Amino acid sequence: MSASAIGFSDSRAARFWNATIGKKIIMAASGIALVGFVCVHLLGNLNFFNSVEAMNAYARFLRIEPALLWVARGGLLLLVTLHIWASVQLAVLNKMEARPIGYVKRKNTGSTYASRTMYWSGPIIFAFVVYHLMHFTWGVGGTAFEELHPSENIVAGFSVPAISIAYIIAIGMLMLHLYHGVWSMFQTLGVNHPRYTPLLKKFAKILSILLFIGFISIPVAVMLGFRPPQQ
Ligand code: HEM
Repeated sequence: MSASAIGFSDSRAARFWNATIGKKIIMAASGIALVGFVCVHLLGNLNFFNSVEAMNAYARFLRIEPALLWVARGGLLLLVTLHIWASVQLAVLNKMEARPIGYVKRKNTGSTYASRTMYWSGPIIFAFVVYHLMHFTWGVGGTAFEELHPSENIVAGFSVPAISIAYIIAIGMLMLHLYHGVWSMFQTLGVNHPRYTPLLKKFAKILSILLFIGFISIPVAVMLGFRPPQQ
């Protein structure tokens, strides 16, 4: 949608709109795909509660086709890169908009609240993912690690309360980020309807709460002494 199509007469405002909308769409599209990954990852992780064998078989299954695994990893990396790139670009544009020149009349209160939490939770989540990869993928997170034995690695990792608590805090932040992200994505896509908007907001809230409970159930269970059966 062009700026003139939505009624901007001021050419600077039009340029601002054109500069931001493409980036917001990139944020939203990469964000949706990343939420998809997070949901699938949680479903895979819940195998932990079935048995040691179920969890480890899942890890082996992911490696049945190494080429496919690397395509998926490449795709994830591309999505994360696009998401971060667009967020940095939008932060710069937002700063320009905030300059007291007084030419942009459009005021988007929803995105200012979201952006405040998004810009500090984003880097923390990034740091968490790097540590998480060191921990469970590369095996250099400081706790016992054996390739293709995620079940034992998870028990070893989450038996250290400081690690479990750090995970729980980071997952909480991710879910806050996801809640605001899903919500502002609906706005970006132009979904704004008196009946559906509150429902979508509720959907974003329920999804992030369910994901939060699902993810933290694992470190909480390990801290409470749960150990999966062998078979
Ligand atoms: C308590 C929560 C979590 C547990 C127990 C967990 C467990 C694991 C395990 C065991 C692996 C290694 C899989 C393998 O190599 O076979 C892994 C990889 C990964 N996890 Fe998590 N995870 C959790 C939360 C998260 C969250 C919240 C995110 C998203 C930000 C995430 C993102 C990733 C990524 C990107 C990989 C690398 C995938 C790959 O390249 O193979 N994880 N996780």
